[in-house]
Amino acid sequence: MERTVIIDALKRTDFGSKINVRGWVRSRRGNKNVSFIALNDGSTIKNIQIVVDLANFSEEQLKPVTTGSCISATGTLVESQGAGQSVEIQLTELEVYGTADPEKYPLQKKGLSMEYLRTIAHLRPRTNTFGAVFRIRHNMAMAIHTYFHEHGYFYFHTPLITASDCEGAGQMFQVTTKNLYNLKYDENGKIDYSDDFFGKQTSLTVSGQLEGELAAMALGKIYTFGPTFRAENSNTPRHLAEFWMIEPEVAFIQKDELMDLEEDFIKYCVRWALANCKDDLEFLNQFVDKGLIARLESVVNTEFVRLTYTEGVNILQEAVKHGRKFEFPCEWGDDLASEHERFLVEEHFGKPVIMTDYPKDIKAFYMKINEDDKTVQGTDVLFPQIGEIIGGSVREESLDKLNAEIARRQIPMKDMWWYLDTRRFGAAPHAGFGLGFERLMLFVTGMQNIRDVIPFPRTPKTAEF
Ligand code: 4AD
Ligand code: MG
Repeated sequence: MERTVIIDALKRTDFGSKINVRGWVRSRRGNKNVSFIALNDGSTIKNIQIVVDLANFSEEQLKPVTTGSCISATGTLVESQGAGQSVEIQLTELEVYGTADPEKYPLQKKGLSMEYLRTIAHLRPRTNTFGAVFRIRHNMAMAIHTYFHEHGYFYFHTPLITASDCEGAGQMFQVTTKNLYNLKYDENGKIDYSDDFFGKQTSLTVSGQLEGELAAMALGKIYTFGPTFRAENSNTPRHLAEFWMIEPEVAFIQKDELMDLEEDFIKYCVRWALANCKDDLEFLNQFVDKGLIARLESVVNTEFVRLTYTEGVNILQEAVKHGRKFEFPCEWGDDLASEHERFLVEEHFGKPVIMTDYPKDIKAFYMKINEDDKTVQGTDVLFPQIGEIIGGSVREESLDKLNAEIARRQIPMKDMWWYLDTRRFGAAPHAGFGLGFERLMLFVTGMQNIRDVIPFPRTPKTAEF
């Protein structure tokens, strides 16, 4: 018989019809007359209840139906008597696809810690929490593609293997086919890459932006959405070594339009979650973070604060004068720490902040330099609970200024001649940003650790699964 997915089965009202569902047993309870199986197939956070009349099935037949086992259940669709569910199935035929030894199956108990669940990341999608998180993750990807498609952007694929360091922070993982125990060196004692696969030193990309800029100079409006890699040795709840980034790049826009785009885009994603992930959000709101839905609603209904870095530092220094303590100092010129960002967003303004015009020395080489020659047109979006969720900027389109900045930073440009060509041939004002997908996921789910919003996290010393 054809399978009905549980999300559809729960909406059916053709009581008395025969129906088949398949999924994983969440629990089985009952008495000597009747047994109740809670079955979940991942299509929704909700389980369907299978009612087993023990006059028709023996204990022996039901024995393999334990938590974690996989079954196919056929029966009659009936209106449910129990509270909290609309329909249930009176079992007539049972097939067990796969058993799960109760002595060994790790997901027996409720309330397992996030840390423990990380060690069984291959099974954790079967929990309510991770089922919800990964359904929301899919929905956020759909929201992102839909937003850009509807706004005339083209999805552009940038390479994962690259010979350039976009952010210039030197946090790259090298890509090589060489025998690392038997490297060839040149006469200066430097590694000779000429006989390596690509004939030069290559790495996994930290950002698709540079290639995205090339595309924007031809297609006008593009976005990338792919994995990026950073070998930053920061073991924090907000950093991954492999994370997904969304990077739109747009020709002919300036700082204000860039900020409008950042705000509109992120609100669209949050609105999408509220509209399309109701059951999962309600679950997370109840069991993971009681303030979640209220926070999501507040973000879509509020205008983000737009603030220069200099104004931000002044506010922080005022706060320090009035006795607010921070772990790190904040002098003009310092990179803001997460505690500073969160103070501004959560305590001072109580809403998201788009911070602009940072000192040039704490930002990447490609940002447009202001008239003051001290600050650049960066436009980061800072969010409650998260801190930086978007990093963006207007790009420096002047070849001379860009060359001067590259020289000042002593950036090796021999592998980036193609990037400078965009400033040589038909240069245009343009701007873009990068949204960390997992940071968005943290915000939308209320989860506390970035390791718990990606299926298989990669962090220092962790590459299991
Ligand atoms: O601020 P970042 O470094 O900016 C760029 O990479 C630019 N090239 C983007 C652009 O303008 N096209 O990174 C962008 C965002 C951050 O705001 C943050 O949300 C996320 O990427 N991010 C990380 N997320 C998880 N783990 C990490 N290690 C991350 N590093 C950055
Ligand atoms: Mg940044």
